[in-house]
Amino acid sequence: MKQVFFYLILGLSLAAVACQKPIAVADSPIPGLLVNATPVTTSEVIVTSHNASTELYPAPPPLAQRSVASLAMPIVTAGGYGANISPEDPHIRLYRSVVDPRSIEPVIIETVGLTSLVNKINALPWDYAPTDLIPIDAGGVAGMSLRQEAAAAWEQWRLAALRDGYSVLAVSSYRSRDYQVGLFNRYLASHGDEAILWSAHPRRSEHEMGLALDLSNHYALPGESFGETAMGRYLAETAHLFGFILRYPKGYEADTGYSYEPWHFRYVGLDIADQMVSRSIPTLEHFYQLTLEP
Ligand code: DAL
Ligand code: ZN
Repeated sequence: MKQVFFYLILGLSLAAVACQKPIAVADSPIPGLLVNATPVTTSEVIVTSHNASTELYPAPPPLAQRSVASLAMPIVTAGGYGANISPEDPHIRLYRSVVDPRSIEPVIIETVGLTSLVNKINALPWDYAPTDLIPIDAGGVAGMSLRQEAAAAWEQWRLAALRDGYSVLAVSSYRSRDYQVGLFNRYLASHGDEAILWSAHPRRSEHEMGLALDLSNHYALPGESFGETAMGRYLAETAHLFGFILRYPKGYEADTGYSYEPWHFRYVGLDIADQMVSRSIPTLEHFYQLTLEP
């Protein structure tokens, strides 16, 4: 009897899963961008299908903790560098004055390198995947990896931080395209359009380059207050010594298109990181405007 009951429950569960129809994300320019509309209800999303990793990628902090008030300027001017788009284009949708990445055709980067600019409007080719990923010591978080040069730089930075008394954890690193598809869609399903302020459209995340790290002082993504902690300040101040930059700084939301992320660091190499500090260049968008424009 017990066995019959067990199989009945199992059968019903499988039927319920099978009936869960994927829904298409409205207007997505990416083919096959589908999502099971299961809202994120826990504080952590446990991912098991990402390159066999056991990455713990937490849901973002509650919206109330995020300062989006400063997103008042159209990103299409400054953050629009390199894109063949105009603010007058009727197809472009803005959300809180930030361009909605689903409403534009991004510029596809032809040759992806360690210094490429990837943002809301500069995207990786659909088939791009880094070929030199290696596992990193993430301070206790399993399954993390980066491109080789970034991984070596991270290891130096991590050890330097340890010597200075900071035990830093990397809670997110390389993400495959399919992983970013799932993540972005889950956030859209759970938070609506608001998600575009802090989650990158697939192919437009630096995590897909294998060059970005989300750093924390515990086994979850920290909140905005991380930037005010001793560790957050230490990381922001020392990043350039190892070729990293704080990619989404406070006050430059309109330029990057993302709200402040004191945890997200991008490897760009020593040369650019150095130049950005010595010339007081706040974002990678500014860096390319400053260096490429006559
Ligand atoms: N949170 C950053 C923008 C990303 O999703 O890559
Ligand atoms: Zn990140």
